[in-house]
Amino acid sequence: MIQTTLNIVMLSSLGAGGRAGGPTPPNFWFTEGASTVAPSVDQLFMYINYVCYFFFALIMLLMFYFMWKYRQRGREVNPGGPTHHTLLELTWSGLPLILVIIMFDWGFKGYMDLTTPPLNSYEIEVTAKQWSWDFKYPNGVVTSNTELDGLVVPEGRPVKLLLRSSDVLHSFYVRDFRVKKDAVPGRTNYLWFEAPWATGSFPIKEEDKFHWFFCTEYCGQDHSNMNGRVHVLEQADFDAWLAEKEKFLEKIPDEELYFQAGPQFYARCSQCHSLDGTAGIGPSWGPVEGYTGKTIWERTANLETKFADGSTLKDFVGPGKEFESAEDYILNSIVDPGKHLVQGFGNAMPTFRGAIPGRGQQAILGMMKKLHEFDPKTGKHPKTGQKSTQPPAP
Ligand code: CUA
Repeated sequence: MIQTTLNIVMLSSLGAGGRAGGPTPPNFWFTEGASTVAPSVDQLFMYINYVCYFFFALIMLLMFYFMWKYRQRGREVNPGGPTHHTLLELTWSGLPLILVIIMFDWGFKGYMDLTTPPLNSYEIEVTAKQWSWDFKYPNGVVTSNTELDGLVVPEGRPVKLLLRSSDVLHSFYVRDFRVKKDAVPGRTNYLWFEAPWATGSFPIKEEDKFHWFFCTEYCGQDHSNMNGRVHVLEQADFDAWLAEKEKFLEKIPDEELYFQAGPQFYARCSQCHSLDGTAGIGPSWGPVEGYTGKTIWERTANLETKFADGSTLKDFVGPGKEFESAEDYILNSIVDPGKHLVQGFGNAMPTFRGAIPGRGQQAILGMMKKLHEFDPKTGKHPKTGQKSTQPPAP
């Protein structure tokens, strides 16, 4: 009852847009509403909710009342009774009809709003893969849900996400924005929202406020890890963040790339490739039985990697062969992972072509070469302490 009263107060306080006052506060039904469409979605939900309460109560009360009123008395059977009541029939047809027409009209308008991104929308390309999300910005910067930054968007500006999947069905959902859309293999879907309130400023910090996004389509073993942070920054902060992101890799000296940037990119590999020899979806970068090389790089440099078709890396590396060097094989495996399948593993890895820039790939290669410097459990390097910053599940 208290909750119901709160909801009525909530409903009346939502108002149109609600932009000035800040996000609508969370209640029993919703997390905070932090986008321009959230108030109307919530209001429609509450309208349907109260219509349901009302008719549930009405029907139950009448049912029990009639059960009592028309109970059998003695052995007498009363054959008479009304067969027709025009006013009553018009009422019970007309009233619900009006109520559902309101639902339809309201819902249809909302749906049209949600499927019509404004022309000046800021576009971000989103690629879902088992089991991560990549976000590609117009200047080529790519972030991932495995990073602290996650998805970063400008405040008070419509943002259009182009959703693609490189393997199976995923679904992108931002709870606080009330938006959700499937990422379907072989198709480009889109979703848009406008978040009028910044959650933090540049640079983004661990303790900043943020909005969760989730994958809401069961897509395999690590589905529950396909979530991350949406940060909303004021336009100036957003521009600074994007510029910084663009320069980040260029500013690191070559010899520091493997520990400054390696762990950040390894975060995208860590769902499938362990560092300590633990078996996963893909071969571990650490020690694996059956090889003399103790790390992925040593096995590769020795050309002893065994493939599913019975060949070994020796067959493919050397002058005139497919790869000039062992490094080439590793770099090629990042962009064309299905070409040679390591013995004991299926064709499960998505391509990272375009998702990890050249210097990022060099960082990964460098990390493989100096794996002994990294903590095999956390992937931390003693010089930075940097590691995967995937937030814990809510
Ligand atoms: Cu991707 Cu569930």
